[in-house]
Amino acid sequence: MAFSSFWKYCAPLSLLLLLSYSQTAWGQAVQAENVTVLEGGTAQISCRLQNYDGSIVVIQNPRRQTLFFNGTRALKDDRFQMVLFTPRLVRITLTNVSVSDEGGFFCQLYTDDTHHQVATLSVVVPPEVPMVEVKTEAVEGGEVELTCVSPRSKPPATLRWVRDRREIAGVISQQENGKTVSVSNTIRIPVERKDNGAALSCEASHPALVGQKRVRHYSLDVHFAPTVKIIPPQGILREGDSLSLTCSVTGNPLPRDIQWSRVNDTLPERAEKTGNILLMSRLSQSHNGTYLCQAHNNYGRAADHYTLLVYVSVPPKSHPAIAHLPSSSFTKEYQDPGAVVETHSAVPYAMIGGILALLVFTVICVLIVTIWCSVRQKDHGTRKLGRRQRAQRNPSS
Ligand SMILES: *[C@@H]1O[C@H](CO)[C@@H](O)[C@H](O)[C@H]1NC(C)=O
Ligand SMILES: *[C@@H]1O[C@H](CO)[C@@H](O)[C@H](O)[C@H]1NC(C)=O
Ligand SMILES: *[C@@H]1O[C@H](CO)[C@@H](O)[C@H](O)[C@H]1NC(C)=O
Ligand SMILES: *[C@@H]1O[C@H](CO)[C@@H](O)[C@H](O)[C@H]1NC(C)=O
Ligand SMILES: *[C@@H]1O[C@H](CO)[C@@H](O)[C@H](O)[C@H]1NC(C)=O
Repeated sequence: MAFSSFWKYCAPLSLLLLLSYSQTAWGQAVQAENVTVLEGGTAQISCRLQNYDGSIVVIQNPRRQTLFFNGTRALKDDRFQMVLFTPRLVRITLTNVSVSDEGGFFCQLYTDDTHHQVATLSVVVPPEVPMVEVKTEAVEGGEVELTCVSPRSKPPATLRWVRDRREIAGVISQQENGKTVSVSNTIRIPVERKDNGAALSCEASHPALVGQKRVRHYSLDVHFAPTVKIIPPQGILREGDSLSLTCSVTGNPLPRDIQWSRVNDTLPERAEKTGNILLMSRLSQSHNGTYLCQAHNNYGRAADHYTLLVYVSVPPKSHPAIAHLPSSSFTKEYQDPGAVVETHSAVPYAMIGGILALLVFTVICVLIVTIWCSVRQKDHGTRKLGRRQRAQRNPSS
């Protein structure tokens, strides 16, 4: 009874013990380690041996093709190298790893084809610097649509749009491309003229970049209609002077050609146009007129005008020359819009006038004070004299 119960309960237990003992202590065993490697890098595939007794060690690729048969190359692929074969460790390397190499590599003892171990090779693909695609171009007063694209990564990269250190929320989409993923982030932002040249950036982050980011910088290119402004010359222009008019133009794109013209007339014969400057030398009254500067781009056009009046030349410090001018034209000259210098010189004249008035006032004051003082002095003198005379008349008091 006791004997039979021993066989019933203890025999399977002891067999189990014996089996496990032989596996751990006596029997041969192989262990494999999982590997994660960057694409293009080198993977080390290691098979640890226990109680190795000289059996044949076989290493197979995920398609179960034998790479090495007990240390001898079996598959013709130079990317695989046997680097170590000791009774404790067999190690092979795989260079220039690609995502297609992913999978389980088998470490196996030939004698025991039921017991193999799998080393899983994982390949990580960090993102490149992302690209920016302009979906709708930026026009002043409109919206711009920008897409940031990271075409390949594994696992998927995270894309962020940033402006002035603040994130701009966008629409993120992912598309699987074999074993890698294409990620995109699309934003729409309103744009004004002042936004032209504003700096944006798209940042790609990924576990394989360990906290670093791949950043694409992008500056907004906001298109807008031109503005035009003629910078007028200073002072009065007289016959024989030369005049250069500069036309200051903005716009995106910047207008390429700038047109100069004279209203109701042609440009003077000797006028020279170089870029945005109109140059006229040896002015005469035939140059009188309204000059126009015009510019355009695809988004609009703009113009500015300047009215030129050329005055008869006056030899400097020669008063008779002014005297022989008709008085009416002389006064007109000083009311003229071209007479910038005259309006400015009004300020010094006013100042000189003020100073003169102050001087006259001071002189009058001084005079009054002097007169008053002298009158008082005289008065005092007469009073003193009177007192003395009175004292002489009655000395007893
Ligand atoms: C190795 O990777 C495989 C597949 O991802 C997984 O099932 C297994 O548990 C991993 N082994 C170890 C020891 O991490
Ligand atoms: C397998 O290779 C190991 C190491 O070179 C060697 O010790 C062993 O004898 C080989 N086994 C066979 C069966 O050739
Ligand atoms: C690495 O592998 C890729 C394809 O997977 C190949 O285009 C490239 O030339 C290889 N580089 C080297 C150094 O062998
Ligand atoms: C140009 O001619 C038109 C028609 O004769 C006239 O109305 C206009 O005032 C002129 N412009 C200038 C700047 O002379
Ligand atoms: C040119 O303008 C000046 C100043 O207004 C004027 O005196 C002169 O008569 C004008 N000449 C012509 C030809 O229009």
